[in-house]
Amino acid sequence: MNDDRIYLSVPHMSGEERRFVKDAFDSNWLSSVGPDLNAFEQEVALRLGGDLHTLAVSSGTAALHLVLRQVGVGHGDRVAVSTLTFAGSVFPILYLGATPVFIDSERTSWNIDPDLVREYLDDSARTNSLPKALIAVHLYGQHCDIDAIAEVCAEHGVVLIEDAAESLGATYRGRQTATTARYSILSFNGNKIITTTGGGMIIARDPIAIAQMKKWANQSREPAIEYLHRDVGFNYRMSNVLAAIGRGQLLVLDERVAARRRVAERYADAFADVPGVMLQPEAPWGTHTRWLSVVGLDADDARACPSMIVQALAAENIEARPVWRPMHTQPLFNGAQVIGGSVADTLFAHGVCLPSSSSLSPSAQERVSEAVRRALLQPSAI
Ligand SMILES: Cc1ncc(COP(=O)(O)O)c(C=O)c1O
Repeated sequence: MNDDRIYLSVPHMSGEERRFVKDAFDSNWLSSVGPDLNAFEQEVALRLGGDLHTLAVSSGTAALHLVLRQVGVGHGDRVAVSTLTFAGSVFPILYLGATPVFIDSERTSWNIDPDLVREYLDDSARTNSLPKALIAVHLYGQHCDIDAIAEVCAEHGVVLIEDAAESLGATYRGRQTATTARYSILSFNGNKIITTTGGGMIIARDPIAIAQMKKWANQSREPAIEYLHRDVGFNYRMSNVLAAIGRGQLLVLDERVAARRRVAERYADAFADVPGVMLQPEAPWGTHTRWLSVVGLDADDARACPSMIVQALAAENIEARPVWRPMHTQPLFNGAQVIGGSVADTLFAHGVCLPSSSSLSPSAQERVSEAVRRALLQPSAI
């Protein structure tokens, strides 16, 4: 077996991070306040464009928790959310004692289906059971069809939240991701397109809401010399050192998007003559970052299933994963309400995420492509 393991998605430093981190150390701003935190928040806001306010926190999950609390989600409320996502999109709903309602994907982008959102919100308005918020996830670096979803949410007074943990750098009708909804969140986890080793960010239009969430993220400390608290809080702030890493990463975001798109293009070329294999389609409304390159295997034409591909790659010391297991099929959410579900089930049954790092060399990628081709063209040899 080849000793050089190829991972799904690894951190890729620009080289500038050390300089930012050194400056942070030299200044001794190492903890939850400091100039890099302020600068990183401003630079992300600037990168996204528009009249936006940002708050850097310890993770994307923490960001979503604070946003849902800001929206007023609590015990007995419903929150609608894409079913085809990572659990971090959903756990914060449970932290607040609310109930998730899962919504299926559409086939154009694999993201939350606007027609099903309309159907669900119209129905729940009739039965007086509207969700308080809807979390639209932008899957694997591709934007959902957010205008259609924003329109129906506005009609029903449902607060729209963008889970842009996987989509920093993606666009939608010329706009950057995380800029349409009232609240959006990003993740800077180690596997993301840029990373602070771990971290997240909230994006909002309302500076007062950001100030409130900042206070909660700082243990709800009142501006008093003694430790005065009127409200429960969390230790959710990002550290200045991690923000310094983020500043070095943000400098190369466009390069990282271009590199991940090149990885996807090389896979498309490598599998062009293999029956029944295609990349997650790129929807006409924007640029897919290809944070992960994901292939769908046609049930009729492909000669291997995702688990065979994952196994074949594992045998060659290459990491691959199935598509996210839909939330409505998770044991934790047994009996939860789901609107549709069969599209996400099919994508899960037939999709594989392939190594997609921006640092993946063409020769390493060829190892992956060759192993996938072998698995698909000579499945009996696996
Ligand atoms: C879609 C989605 N939402 C939320 C999260 C949670 O982010 P974090 O890992 O920073 O808590 C992640 C992944 O990490 C994600 O992929």
